[in-house]
Amino acid sequence: MSRYLAFLAVAVVATISFLGFQGMKSKDTPVYVFDDMDYQNKYKAQGENAFFADGRDARPPVAGTVARGNGLEPTKVFSAGFQRAESQNPSFVTGKDAKGAFLAGFPEKSLGITNGKLNDYKVSQYTLDVGRGKFQVYCAVCHGQAADGNGIMKVRSAIEGDAAIVTIASLQTPIIRAYPNGQIFDVITNGKNTMMGYGDKLSPEERWAVVAYVRALQLSQNCPPELVPAAVKAQIK
Ligand code: HEC
Repeated sequence: MSRYLAFLAVAVVATISFLGFQGMKSKDTPVYVFDDMDYQNKYKAQGENAFFADGRDARPPVAGTVARGNGLEPTKVFSAGFQRAESQNPSFVTGKDAKGAFLAGFPEKSLGITNGKLNDYKVSQYTLDVGRGKFQVYCAVCHGQAADGNGIMKVRSAIEGDAAIVTIASLQTPIIRAYPNGQIFDVITNGKNTMMGYGDKLSPEERWAVVAYVRALQLSQNCPPELVPAAVKAQIK
């Protein structure tokens, strides 16, 4: 009997030391007795799928799908004569004029409509405040508070040797200062090379506000002497 118990004890200890306890952390490749849900048949984003004619796992939305939660009311959207504001002022969402050239300045009209007419677009203190808020949330981590390309991501990635992020651009170069506004808007909307687009996170109004704030930052780092107020000049030694 005692021999049997000793054998049982050795067997239990051996099994536990080999398989470990449930939930135990280990860097070794796990031994699967029961694979729970770690392996299962599923469709993956960007995966291939022979079942569909286009060969994609991810299914595009059905034609005519209306997104929820964007303020478009179904009764309005499906009424005869409904037009998306974008279609009435495309350059506000593309940053380009009718010929496809980037807008040099800001769009003249917004997407807001009063009495059937598009409202004027003006850069105001409010616009700059919105732009500053969004820039500090979405851009400053990489491009830095002064848009000089020295955000915390750049600093950290230089320390950790992450080559992809070291390419973060300074927005204070002569080339980017000379960009038409529409081109900066386009980079924010669609991204460029290693920078992701922010078109899905910032509304067109917010993107123009960020453009305005980037212009303000560029001016702050490269101000022509005649624009410096006398009171500030007096403090410069
Ligand atoms: C995660 C890091 C990251 C964030 C956040 C980020 N950018 Fe960038 N940005 C980059 C990188 C990297 C580049 C350089 C891309 C390249 O390789 O040309 C770049 C380039 C740019 C350029 C220059 C593009 C050109 O034509 O050379 C502009 C303008 C710009 N970013 C604006 C913005 C603005 C405005 C925001 C905030 C809405 C923003 N970026 C957020 C990483 C970032």
